[in-house]
Amino acid sequence: MDVRPYKVIFDTDPGVDDAMALYFALAHPGIEVIGITTTFGNVAVEQAASNALYLTRIAGVTIPVTQGIAAPLIIPAPIPPAHIHGADGLGNLPERLPVQGTLDPRSSAQFIVDMARAQPGEITLVAVGPLGNLSLALALEPQLPHLLREVILMGGTVQEPGNVSAVAEANIANDPHAAADVFAAPWKLTMVGLDVTHRVILPLTLFKEVADKQQHIATSTLHHAVSFYANFYSGRHPHVAQVHGCFGHDVLAFLYLVQPELFGLARGRIQVLTEGPLQGQTVLSGSDGVSQVCMQVDADACKQALEDALLSHWLD
Ligand code: BDR
Ligand code: CA
Repeated sequence: MDVRPYKVIFDTDPGVDDAMALYFALAHPGIEVIGITTTFGNVAVEQAASNALYLTRIAGVTIPVTQGIAAPLIIPAPIPPAHIHGADGLGNLPERLPVQGTLDPRSSAQFIVDMARAQPGEITLVAVGPLGNLSLALALEPQLPHLLREVILMGGTVQEPGNVSAVAEANIANDPHAAADVFAAPWKLTMVGLDVTHRVILPLTLFKEVADKQQHIATSTLHHAVSFYANFYSGRHPHVAQVHGCFGHDVLAFLYLVQPELFGLARGRIQVLTEGPLQGQTVLSGSDGVSQVCMQVDADACKQALEDALLSHWLD
């Protein structure tokens, strides 16, 4: 039996749920994060890269971090949602420890291509922000779909209403043309969208318990960030307010990687509408094809898996 961890490049715009996802990945023995590529989205790309560096260094790990695409391919740049993630992306941290380390000088797209060429068939790309880095990487290396093991992305929605318009999810809406490139490429792709992420409500108490039992700058930073994020989601959705919590969004992409049995899938072709009032909508058609979409999820098991990982011995 193959028990090696999955090698992952994490493409991200940290972001509170991105930070949650990163720490789940670092804590989980079945995942080896071999690089973090950053994009604009929840914050400007410079802040995203700085946050990725900070989150890894305070957790005591040294992983290459690159700064990637700064704006959508075609549409105007969106205003970062400071009311959801904080102006700094991490719930407005009151202070930051000084940390060592510099960014890898390559662009995110070049890093993805270099790593995929060096380890063909080995790497899973987990993408949880707007998809410009992947689109640029495809342009640099058209064989990329055959060099990566698979792509798992948090984004889009099929039946669930959108979170930035009636039909569109934020990561896809923030760069619909890049998303269209990514969905059109012939890789094994799994979309983890709002159809499942809106079913998994994480109470803030989970993160408090982790911070209390594992006293560490990484867990207190995550707890602070999730407190801010939970205020936003609890203010917007009465059923989320009942547990004072938030949606897990990005962490579900990693949960699918390590525990796919927790998800129900639909298969087909995913198209992105790039123009007009439905811009950013992801449309699933057909019943076969290389793409699959998560449509059902065992929410309790996801919560338990997140809690188990964050409470394990992953921090010094
Ligand atoms: C997605 O948008 C971002 O704000 C979150 O980090 C997540 O990736 C949810 O729609
Ligand atoms: Ca994200």
